[in-house]
Amino acid sequence: MRLLRIDSSARTSSVTRQLTAAFTDAWRRANPDGELLERDLSRTPLPVITDDWSATFGDPAKVTAAQQEYLSTSDTLTAELLAADLIVIGAPMYNFTISWPLKAWIDQVVRLGKTVAYGPSGPRGLLNGKKAIVVTSRGGSYTAEFNAPNFDFQETYLRRILGFMGVEDVTFIHAENQRRGDQAEQARTAAIGQIGRLAAATQRQPEAAD
Ligand SMILES: Cc1cc2nc3c(=O)[nH]c(=O)nc-3n(C[C@H](O)[C@H](O)[C@H](O)COP(=O)(O)O)c2cc1C
Repeated sequence: MRLLRIDSSARTSSVTRQLTAAFTDAWRRANPDGELLERDLSRTPLPVITDDWSATFGDPAKVTAAQQEYLSTSDTLTAELLAADLIVIGAPMYNFTISWPLKAWIDQVVRLGKTVAYGPSGPRGLLNGKKAIVVTSRGGSYTAEFNAPNFDFQETYLRRILGFMGVEDVTFIHAENQRRGDQAEQARTAAIGQIGRLAAATQRQPEAAD
């Protein structure tokens, strides 16, 4: 099994990094032979979309050397995603949605012919069979009890864009209330507990003997 860990907070005190690390550690214990790839988006130069992006939907034979060079980051990030069975994404909430490095990564990996295809019945995701776990951190709370779900453009967007690429099996674990004093630690502890259980459940069961 191959796990791709994606971090998108640049803060050294990042909560989402603690959560992706907790997942990775527990996953390693459950899958000692598994392969782990770590992609830290805060340390990855992420290109902006320019005219050269049109090379991703044009004739491959006409891609220039400059366009190939421009697309090399996208090629690398897309290959990492294609190679993974499981993806764990650390997503801080900024202004009700995701951080810009995570959005920039999405712009690099939504690739025609690689992660999404268009057919007679519209778009079709090509990443079927992969699972994702998204761990988020938020200053406030967006659960129904606080009547704030309409402001949560983070889970809504990530579910939609991962589904667009064919990743339908997505589990969210939220560490909420991180700006609410003593509720913060309680929420982190609860999230880490959930993460540990989820990671342990990824352990591959031995094949049944005939
Ligand atoms: C620029 C900025 C915008 C933020 N916007 C929100 C927000 O809209 N809603 C919220 O609940 N928390 C918000 N927060 C709080 C963060 O979600 C919280 O600090 C979280 O722990 C960040 O993730 P990290 O610890 O992994 O960096 C914001 C924080 C910053 C720095």
